[in-house]
Amino acid sequence: MKRRDKMKLKTRRLEGYERIPYELLLLADESMAAINRYVMHSDIYVLERGGKPIAVYVLYGLNEYELEIKNIAVDRAYQGRGIGGFLLQDAAARAAEKGYSSLLIGTAETAVKQLALYRKAGFGFHTIRKDFFTANYPVPIVEGGVPLQHMVVLRKEIRC
Ligand code: ACO
Repeated sequence: MKRRDKMKLKTRRLEGYERIPYELLLLADESMAAINRYVMHSDIYVLERGGKPIAVYVLYGLNEYELEIKNIAVDRAYQGRGIGGFLLQDAAARAAEKGYSSLLIGTAETAVKQLALYRKAGFGFHTIRKDFFTANYPVPIVEGGVPLQHMVVLRKEIRC
């Protein structure tokens, strides 16, 4: 898939009876237990190729106004081709359709690539969830030699 094919990308919401693409969700979240805490109460959107999911995002309603992207992941073979950016736009469009006023996304304070992508997609700093990674996971998550501790949450205003 090339960047110019982006116009043809289309996501769809998974039905309750369909298989949850854990192999993709696990690229963005460390454990099945953590994923299962939000996935059952969320809407899951997939981007497919040849009937197989190659990218996913998960939308969780925090309250009447705020929707959070709890998980976003692109199959390694398809990363760096603009799909992540497309999914963020798609999620914002879904949030508008559903009548939310804010879309949130959180990641580790050390996740430079993700933070750059989210800022480019129009998300700005919102808050820090202190000790999120140390409090919610049974074992330390170490990335690039650094144990994850706080979550940085970014927010995008949605215009309906
Ligand atoms: N340093 C800084 N920024 C970088 C770097 C780098 N080394 N490499 C890439 N980027 C950024 C750039 O902003 C680039 O944008 P560009 O198009 O201007 O070059 C962007 O990353 C890549 O954009 P896309 O191709 O649209 O993104 P991609 O399809 O690769 O998807 C994603 C991004 C979802 C983060 C994907 O890499 C992935 O699945 N990673 C593993 C799972 C993950 O980390 N998910 C997010 C966790 S947080 C959460 O789930 C809420």
